[in-house]
Amino acid sequence: MELILDTADLDEIKKLGAMLSVDGVTTNPTIIAQSGKTFDEVRDSLFALLEPEQKVFFQVISTDYEGIMEEARYIASLRESNIFAKIPATHDGLRAVKDCVAEGIHVLCTAISSASQGFMAAKNGADYLAIYINRMSNQGDGVEETVLLQTMLDAAGLPTKVMGASLKNAWQINQLIAHGIDAVTLPVPLVYSMIDQPGTIAARDVFNDNWEHAFGRRTLC
Ligand code: G3P
Repeated sequence: MELILDTADLDEIKKLGAMLSVDGVTTNPTIIAQSGKTFDEVRDSLFALLEPEQKVFFQVISTDYEGIMEEARYIASLRESNIFAKIPATHDGLRAVKDCVAEGIHVLCTAISSASQGFMAAKNGADYLAIYINRMSNQGDGVEETVLLQTMLDAAGLPTKVMGASLKNAWQINQLIAHGIDAVTLPVPLVYSMIDQPGTIAARDVFNDNWEHAFGRRTLC
């Protein structure tokens, strides 16, 4: 199960990377546009910050096949390994996924909005599928559709990894983990909503108050 951060906030990536076992960082055009930095700045800072084994995902902007291929080749050239071109699952995108895979470019097919669509991208050899769970939940059960996609890939023997994206609450994430989904990409506030539990601080403080009352200090030794 891979834990990916869906952000270009370098301070948070650093902080959460020290606190948790983080497997990589996804970005999208909105995330980079709202970061206050240029693409080059985000790219350089991410590469400087992350370990080589941590994965980095950048999205193509062009929507035509030739443009997607050119940008995917550019993304692939940015790092020796663990670099992935995110390509939306449009007609031109699916064609590009197929040809990127043939060229040895690692691909995450993104904005997947149904199990059937994800299956086709997996057939084309995508490394990952980013399935937009919360957005899909406007029309049905995004978690259920994602579990169906994972079941379909397993049944077909396709090695493509399913990455839950567009997630909005811990319940969705827990369901995905429990069903063996390969990866989730999480916005920073959602990570904190999973780890910050008021009961933990309250319990610690009562224990330490009792300790101090007995021993007159708030350290072990
Ligand atoms: O990487 C972007 C994906 O996670 C979409 O999230 O919140 O825009 O639906 P959202």
